[in-house]
Order: sequence, then structure tokens, then C-alpha cells
Amino acid sequence: MGSAVSILSATAFSWLISQLMTGVLWDGKNQDGTPKNPWAPSPSNQPYIWNAYDEVAERQYRAFTDWAKELGALISVKIGQKRMVVLNSGSLVQESFVRLEQNNSARSIRDGVEVLMTDSGKTVFAAPFEIYWVRIRRAIAIIIGAAYIAKFDGLFSAQAAKLSQGIQFEKSSKNGKPIDAEHLRQLVNLIAMDTSLAIVVGQTNTDPATMLLISEKCREIEAIQANKWYQYGHFINIIQSTYSFLALMRKSLTAIAQRNDLLEVFLEWTSPFIANRGDQTVEVRTIAESLLTILPSKNDPEPAQLTADQVIVNLIHITLHSYKNLSSALFTLIQRLASLPELQERIYAEVLSVKDKEGTLDDWPLIGALINESMRFEPPMRMYSHTSRVEHDILDGEDKPFRIDDGTEIIANLDAIHFDEQYYAEPHTFNPDRFLVKEKKSVSILDKRTERNDDNKKSKNKFMPARDHLAFGAGRRKCQGAKASERMLAATVARLVKSYKLEGGDANVKVDYHSNIWSWTGRTETKGDEIKFISR
Ligand code: HEM
Ligand SMILES: *[C@@H]1O[C@H](CO)[C@@H](O)[C@H](O)[C@H]1NC(C)=O
Ligand SMILES: *[C@@H]1O[C@H](CO)[C@@H](O)[C@H](O)[C@H]1NC(C)=O
Ligand SMILES: *[C@@H]1O[C@H](CO)[C@@H](O)[C@H](O)[C@H]1NC(C)=O
Repeated sequence: MGSAVSILSATAFSWLISQLMTGVLWDGKNQDGTPKNPWAPSPSNQPYIWNAYDEVAERQYRAFTDWAKELGALISVKIGQKRMVVLNSGSLVQESFVRLEQNNSARSIRDGVEVLMTDSGKTVFAAPFEIYWVRIRRAIAIIIGAAYIAKFDGLFSAQAAKLSQGIQFEKSSKNGKPIDAEHLRQLVNLIAMDTSLAIVVGQTNTDPATMLLISEKCREIEAIQANKWYQYGHFINIIQSTYSFLALMRKSLTAIAQRNDLLEVFLEWTSPFIANRGDQTVEVRTIAESLLTILPSKNDPEPAQLTADQVIVNLIHITLHSYKNLSSALFTLIQRLASLPELQERIYAEVLSVKDKEGTLDDWPLIGALINESMRFEPPMRMYSHTSRVEHDILDGEDKPFRIDDGTEIIANLDAIHFDEQYYAEPHTFNPDRFLVKEKKSVSILDKRTERNDDNKKSKNKFMPARDHLAFGAGRRKCQGAKASERMLAATVARLVKSYKLEGGDANVKVDYHSNIWSWTGRTETKGDEIKFISR
């Protein structure tokens, strides 16, 4: 196992070197010499070399949204030397991530932190579209897939009760005064971490000091990733080759130290499972156990097993993804709920109407609608990307073909999509009831009858409300924790509303971050305000 604790700077090094060697050559010709289709429209007047770097660094998804208003929903943007394609409508996401999912479900890794933390693309989030990735997906699916997730309802309501107790405790230590945003966030962080560890490695009641250690390591690695040389380095090769090289290497060494500390913690948790590996009599209950026993399937009758290192690097990545996104979503949801007293009363009635049992998301349509609206209105990630693995064309709303290369990163921009009036009436109003309307179409699932959803075409610009959102992604790379997250959030909302009236809160002020677990597309947090929890 020594190698698990030192996957080594060698990884980061060889990646840097390979970046130096890959001269980016943009030729516009097909193999038979005919010209390729043009790239989708791009913002003009961008500075030479940096191109859109500064503007995207400063304004992130907002820059894409504004260019899309000017140029149309399908745009391409050159950031430094890399050209990305940005999808700014639901129908383009369906076309690219769902209909063409065979072509566009790869992933690219960019900066040194990403390389290091994914062991060069060995985690489910970072792995290319290959059998290795399929095996991991399957192992995760049999633990938290739709058919199995109800097993975790007990865990979720226990976690919700824990949060409620934590709030009670905080309240009494402050003589009933409101709880400020920072303390609430700490409570929410602990619940999100505890829940994630339970699902991923079967750790319940982890000692808070250990949870704090994990989140601290995660924060420190994020800070390294936010370093400007990382930011520039992954878009502009020449920077990697010169001035920043040493700075990068120093940062890498720090990142490696942090990563090794994390590996140590997870190694301790997983060694009992690793020792039992292959013992068919052990019931598989966690993602860790499942990853250690990859089952055969029709297309993969004799699966190669993952190495212990590969399992652990996945467990860390899944835990951190789950922790950060759950805590971000839950904190936002509580802040939002606190600012909506009437909605709280409706939810209170809904929760009370379930008699003689605990109740789950299945019993609470209004809570489900609240969660969906929160995920639409304020998703933890406003952007995520898939990568193409073949050269092909993408059609814009008017069936005009544009170029996609092998390796082009394709970004879904939820800032544009989730506020598209063709799917969401009065999109800038927070309104959970929009999800309770009967006749609805989907932004994320391809409408099989029409083959292509063509509501982007000007001729068929008919409004029909959407029944879903894209906060969990779409297509083959879709989030595997969507159901778990929805059920966990629902249990928490039900519990809080049953115990308290919430007053105060503010979900409208957002803070955008560049760094995250572990990609350049950023994340958005709610700043929050103090909340008074009045016992019912
Ligand atoms: C509110 C909470 C969460 C949000 C907003 C969220 C969001 C996302 C998004 C946007 C993606 C990328 C989708 C795409 O590229 O199309 C993703 C992927 C993924 N999520 Fe989540 N997630 C959440 C919670 C969780 C939890 C709790 C787990 C598991 C315990 C989880 C497991 C995964 C996995 C395994 C993938 C990788 C998919 C792949 O690349 O093959 N997520 N998530
Ligand atoms: C993927 O792209 C190729 C062009 O390279 C195209 O012929 C093929 O139909 C696409 N695959 C899918 C599933 O659409
Ligand atoms: C919420 O969205 C999910 C998809 O993410 C969907 O399955 C569910 O039916 C929606 N619930 C409501 C009440 O709209
Ligand atoms: C959610 O997960 C993604 C992918 O792992 C990550 O990039 C992002 O930072 C997470 N969101 C938050 C709010 O941390």
C-alpha cells in the first residue's frame, strides 16, 4: 500500500512535460483536405494570446450568458489557446450530452491538482469514456442507484434529526438568539460530511475532528488550485513551460502532502474491507465495498478488479464531491426556506398529513418541488463540461452544423439554461409551484418522439413548462448521487419545518469560486444570513 500514499509527483511531472510537448495545432482541414465546418460564433475583439481568459476569469458563467444573448445559444470561446464550445440552451444539451452521448461523454483533466487528485484520470469523475469508467459507474449504481436508494432513508432521517439537535444545542447556548450564517454552515458541513462518509465508506458517527481534518485538507487543496499560475497554466501552455514551472512544482509538493494526509485517513477506513476482498459472504453496503468487488455483466463478463489505490482515490473524490455539493445545496435550501414563511406553513401541513410513518420524499411533492426549484434557481455548479472523443458536427437551433474536434471541451451553462423563458415562466422568480404543474416537458431527457427537441427553432417557439433541471448533469455522465441528494435534502427540510419556524435567512447573495473539486469550472455558494429557529 506504500504506493497509495505516494502516487508521487511523477504524475504531475509527466503531465507537465506532456503539456509542453503538445503543440496545439489548429488546422481547419479534414483528412481528405476539405475544409472543416466553422467553429460556432465567438465573441469578437478578444486580446491576442489570452483571448477570453480575463473575461471568463472575472465573470465566469456570466460572460458566456452575455455572449450567448448576442451570438445565439451555441457559442465557441477561445480561452488562452483552448477553444471550448458552450451550450446555452436545454435543447443543445440534449443534443450534445444526451443524443450524442456516445461521442461526448469523455472528460478532460487540466491542471496539476486535478491530475494529482484523480491519479491522472482514474476517478469516476475524471476517467475517459472507457470500460474502466463503466465498471466504477456500475459499482456505484448498485449502491445508490434509483432502485436501491430507499435503503438510505433511515440514514437520511437520522442525519436530519442530528442537524435539528445541533440547531437546538446552538440555540440554547445562545439563549434562543438567531444562529449566524457561519455557525449554521459549520453544522451543515458536518451533516453533509457525515452523510457522505456513511454512503461512501460506511463510517457513521465519525469523530468531528476527523471530519474537520478532511474538510480542511480539501480547503487547502482548493486554495492551491485557485492559485493564479494554475489558472493561467491550464489554458496557456507557454506559461507552464517557463516562469511558473517552479512555482507550480512547489505548489504541487504542498498539494501532494495534503493529498497524502487524506489517503491515510481513507486507508485506515478501507483496510478492513480490503482484507475481506473477494469474500462473497460479506454483504456489500457501501460504495467502498462495491468498488472492491466489481461484478461481471453482460458486456464485461470477466471484469478486471480495481487496485486498492484506484479504489481509494475514487472514494476520496466521491466523498469530497458529495460533501461539498450536499452542504452547498443544503445551506442554500435552508436560507431560502427561512425567507419564505408561507411556503413553510404549506410544507408543515404536508409533513403533518403523513400519518403513522416517518415519511420520505415520495410522500412530499411540495418539498420535492421546493428542492427542484432551489436546484434550478441556485445550483451549486453553474457549469460543468463533457469532452468530445470524436470529430463531429453540432447543429445549432437552425440545423446549421458547427465544428467539434476530438478533445473539444463542451460546457453546459446553467446560468443561461435555467433562466430560459422557453422552459421556465418568469424564470427570475423563485416559485416551487412551477414543478407541480401537470403537462411538462423535459430539459434533460431526450424526447424520443421527435428525435431532436426542436423548441430552439424559431418557428416552433411554443412555451411548455419544464419538469426538471440540469443541476445534476445530463446523459451518460449524469450525477449518480441525484436521488440520494434529493432524499437527503427532503428529509432535512421536513425535519426542520416540523420542529421550527425559521425566520430571517438570505439566499440571494452568492459568492463565486474558481476552484473546486477538481475542475476549473467553479462553484457558487450562498453567503447566507442569520436565522432564528423558533420551536413549534
Ligand atoms: C446536491 C448535491 C449534488 C450535486 C448538485 C451534484 C452535481 C453533479 C454534477 C453536475 C455532476 C456532473 C454531471 C455531468 O457531467 O453531466 C455530478 C457527477 C457525479 N456525482 Fe454528483 N452531485 C451531488 C451529489 C452527489 C452525491 C451525494 C454523490 C454520491 C454519493 C454524487 C456522485 C456523483 C458521481 C459518482 C458523479 C460522476 C459521474 C461521472 O462522471 O461519470 N453526487 N454530480
Ligand atoms: C458520433 O460522431 C460520428 C462522427 O464522427 C457520427 O457518425 C456518429 O453518428 C456519432 N455517434 C452518435 C451516437 O451519434
Ligand atoms: C424533481 O426533479 C426530479 C428530477 O431531478 C424529478 O424526477 C421529480 O419528479 C421532480 N419532482 C417534482 C415534484 O417536480
Ligand atoms: C460539486 O462537485 C463538482 C464535481 O466534483 C465540483 O467541481 C464542485 O466544486 C462541487 N460543488 C461545490 C459547491 O463544491
